Amino acid sequence: MTATSTRIDTNVSNVPALENTNNASVASMNAGGSSANYFDVLEAWYPVHYVRDLDKLAPTKFTLLGQDIVIWWDNITQSWSVLEDKCPHRLAPLSEGRINQDGLLECPYHGWTFAPSGDRLLVSKT
Ligand code: FES
Repeated sequence: MTATSTRIDTNVSNVPALENTNNASVASMNAGGSSANYFDVLEAWYPVHYVRDLDKLAPTKFTLLGQDIVIWWDNITQSWSVLEDKCPHRLAPLSEGRINQDGLLECPYHGWTFAPSGDRLLVSKT
């Protein structure tokens, strides 16, 4: 998923620092990125949907920070997955597609199918 970086100035003096700043794993988990002066909204986790309201048999469209995403249930990993709601073939919204019999997200226009891994793009049709 590609996105432009959006920054919010958070240069406030009363924000407490992490107590264990020498621990690299703790420091790398800082929400908002590594800068003490800016909060990068793309370097944080966000709740996007109540799971109870999602349908495991159909993709769901959602807009987060102005970017359209698609949420669907992946039968292979047995987990919810999220991708940018834009097919790389001709930019069709994947949220208008379906979950096929293999549990893959299928584009409604030319039938390309997608696994949840960003690197694992499966093309079934042309
Ligand atoms: S637009 Fe998605 S497969 Fe062509």
